[in-house]
Amino acid sequence: MAEFTLPKNSKIKGGRKLPSPQPGGTMRNFKVYRYDPDSGENPRYDTFEVNLDECGPMVLDALIKIKSEQDSSLTFRRSCREGICGSCSMNIDGRNGLACTTAIEDVKGEIKITPLPAMEVIKDLVPDFTHFYAQYASITPWLQTVTPPPAGKERLQSPEERAKLDGLYECILCACCSTSCPSYWWNSDKFLGPAILLQAYRWLADSRDEMTGERLDALEDPFRLYRCHTIMNCANVCPKGLSPAKAIAEIKKMEVERIV
Ligand code: SF4
Ligand code: SF4
Ligand code: FES
Repeated sequence: MAEFTLPKNSKIKGGRKLPSPQPGGTMRNFKVYRYDPDSGENPRYDTFEVNLDECGPMVLDALIKIKSEQDSSLTFRRSCREGICGSCSMNIDGRNGLACTTAIEDVKGEIKITPLPAMEVIKDLVPDFTHFYAQYASITPWLQTVTPPPAGKERLQSPEERAKLDGLYECILCACCSTSCPSYWWNSDKFLGPAILLQAYRWLADSRDEMTGERLDALEDPFRLYRCHTIMNCANVCPKGLSPAKAIAEIKKMEVERIV
């Protein structure tokens, strides 16, 4: 797997070490990236000592404990605490993942936590998703039809047609895949990246959608689709076990099949 880059506005300097308010027991250090644009200071790492005997099992539990007991200014996103909302995506020990589904015991030694790589940082572990969401909007991620629905009925799918959405609909838009993709680091202004392309394929694969040609036209571009070089970082990090690389390959196949 390629090396991860640090967040875009990183020039790390200094740092602090904060001892646990409950010393004793099983202690672990969490080295956390800190950045506050309002302070005018460079980013730094703070190291927090956490008593794991007084903490839940996941990395998110440790971050919540640190925020509650040691530094209330520590900033990160979270909502569901069970891998559903995609809010708590971050880089944990060099690997993108969800803090709420990453067990502390699965990471050895000091646990280093940084924001998702190659995105601007708003504060601490919170990256700026503005561009990512604009790219998502660009693929018109909703069902589009030209024919009217059957009178008084929903647009139905056979079990086989519905099964084609498996491995796609589960995506929680956490961006772990896109921010681990070297092609996306270097061309994120033009390349849509694995997450958005998997979402694009989710609508191409939907038997009810009637905009397949228009969707393929919009993706047929040297940068938007074809910057994927099958490096496979995306499939390796997806916390939902999805394969954006496979979805991208399916889109390329559809592009070829409509020409021949
Ligand atoms: S397979 Fe394609 S999208 Fe996935 S990490 Fe590699 S280059 Fe990026
Ligand atoms: S494909 Fe996986 S890693 Fe990528 S955004 Fe969706 S859930 Fe996250
Ligand atoms: S808090 Fe929702 S996915 Fe982690």
